[in-house]
Amino acid sequence: MKISRSIAKSYDKLADEYTREAYTNHLALSQLKRFANLLPKNAKVLDVGCGGGQDAKFLSDQGYAVLGIDVSKEMIKRAKIYAPKATFQKIDIRKLQGESYDGIWCCRVFHHISLDDQSGFLDALNKNLSIGGILYLTSVVSDKNSDYEAFDSGNDHLLKKRLRPATFKKIIADHGFKILRFSFWSEKKGMEVICKKEF
Ligand SMILES: C[S@@+](CC[C@H](N)C(=O)[O-])C[C@H]1O[C@@H](n2cnc3c(N)ncnc32)[C@H](O)[C@@H]1O
Repeated sequence: MKISRSIAKSYDKLADEYTREAYTNHLALSQLKRFANLLPKNAKVLDVGCGGGQDAKFLSDQGYAVLGIDVSKEMIKRAKIYAPKATFQKIDIRKLQGESYDGIWCCRVFHHISLDDQSGFLDALNKNLSIGGILYLTSVVSDKNSDYEAFDSGNDHLLKKRLRPATFKKIIADHGFKILRFSFWSEKKGMEVICKKEF
């Protein structure tokens, strides 16, 4: 929880700049469409680490019932203004009472979770998804032969955990998810999965 408090503080400071950039340069649009195509009509979707709400806005504008959560109060404040059809709450995913969502969208968040905390984070995603539900998750690719974490001093000391693709795939499978699609993005610096909850 210490880590998540420092993440919250960093994103409180970055909120204006981050939100402006996210709404101007909507990087995840094709991924959002692919994710939405796998959801049932009127699906309930949880956007974990929703930031300023641009993805929650896209999904709620399509008619999905979206709850966006984030540990940064400044991000949540902006999300409520820019995405009025979605609902938002300032909370850590690990504290959310398990509810069955049809889909969980978790974009550009997991690399902020330390190696020690990643299992608890994946358990929390699992707890909030119904069996057969769809999870979208991203991470940052390791540029070494090992998994490691380091603080990115250029970006307000945010933790960046870097994983080898094999590690990313294994921890996802170990937490009850079947990977339907794996791909690299952002010139192979990032990776993403679409999964189905099996157990
Ligand atoms: C890089 S931003 C991504 C925002 C948005 N998903 C996007 O793709 O633009 C990461 C966000 O995750 C939030 N976050 C980090 N850890 C979290 C946790 N444990 N629970 C909820 N939100 C978290 C941060 O506060 C931050 O707003």
